[in-house]
Amino acid sequence: MCYRRRYLAEITACQIFDPLNVIHSGKEITTARNFLKPPPTSTMSASSSGTFAAGDTIQLRLEDGLERRYTIIKLFLPFTRSVVLLARPDQQTGPVVLKLYDPRYLNERHVLSQYRPSFPWDAKLEREAAETRRREECPGAGDLQRLLWAEEDVAWNSERALLWEEWFYRECMNSFANESSAYDQMTSMQGGAIPKLLGRGVVVDSERDIEVPALVLEYVEGISMQDAPHSVVRAATDAWAHLSQAVIRFNKLDIAHEDINQTNILLSPDGGRAVIIDFGRARRGQPTMRGVDYDARRLEELFRKKGLCISSSG
Ligand SMILES: Nc1ncnc2c1ncn2[C@@H]1O[C@H](COP(=O)(O)OP(=O)(O)OP(=O)(O)O)[C@@H](O)[C@H]1O
Ligand SMILES: [Mg+2]
Repeated sequence: MCYRRRYLAEITACQIFDPLNVIHSGKEITTARNFLKPPPTSTMSASSSGTFAAGDTIQLRLEDGLERRYTIIKLFLPFTRSVVLLARPDQQTGPVVLKLYDPRYLNERHVLSQYRPSFPWDAKLEREAAETRRREECPGAGDLQRLLWAEEDVAWNSERALLWEEWFYRECMNSFANESSAYDQMTSMQGGAIPKLLGRGVVVDSERDIEVPALVLEYVEGISMQDAPHSVVRAATDAWAHLSQAVIRFNKLDIAHEDINQTNILLSPDGGRAVIIDFGRARRGQPTMRGVDYDARRLEELFRKKGLCISSSG
């Protein structure tokens, strides 16, 4: 069975997924298409070699059209939903965090399951998926889900692999869109309970058939709530109180983080600042099945686990 033929036959109005039309504060970024043009020339970079190591460089084309080179200082491993790197811009500024939404490194590719095999990244497949997308032959979200898991009497074949490639791509573009949009919505909180968003762009890499979006974020020097020493966690009451107020504000700003856990909360070494990161699953303006105060309840639960008595449910 040819999946592509089948979904083309089934889908009359094909929904084209276009992650680059990210909605920011209710407005489409009209400049998005300008800065997301195909990369001009070949550059040898960490991303085109397929590996990342301290000392390698990454080149980004930012929203304003300017290109900026970053030297990697450290990798935040393991890479799960994105590639997160500590890097130094070539200008004389301090280190920043680069978050690259690259389907190549998505850990979902390698989920070991009896229901599906791993789908390691493959340049040819990425190209084929990109061409299918350009020809507007992609299924809509619901149809894609259905086709991925359809019980067909077919071996795992290239048709199915192509659909998974499309899925991985959408996962990354959605994470970028969610996070990018959440930061835009929360500008007043940046630099406090959430990192500052310093820039947005795409990785310059002529070897790829897709454009990998990236965020440049303030580096919050600290340790996760999970790994922070108990004494520092216990003493950081002001930082926790501030964080709970921030989470209540998320809700007022119509943002649901949806992934509040100890690894997504960073605490400065002196316990003076607590910061929530990772808005890749954040949703905006949609009612959540888990209730509007879900984030606040989750945070309160984390506080309880750490023996802290701080209310965050407003
Ligand atoms: N702004 C930041 N300052 C300092 N460290 C950061 C920052 N953003 C991310 N990190 C580090 O990188 C790690 C991964 O970041 P993040 O959670 O945003 O990525 P992710 O790909 O969504 O990961 P996951 O799905 O595993 O939660 C964090 O646990 C943290 O150690
Ligand atoms: Mg995380």
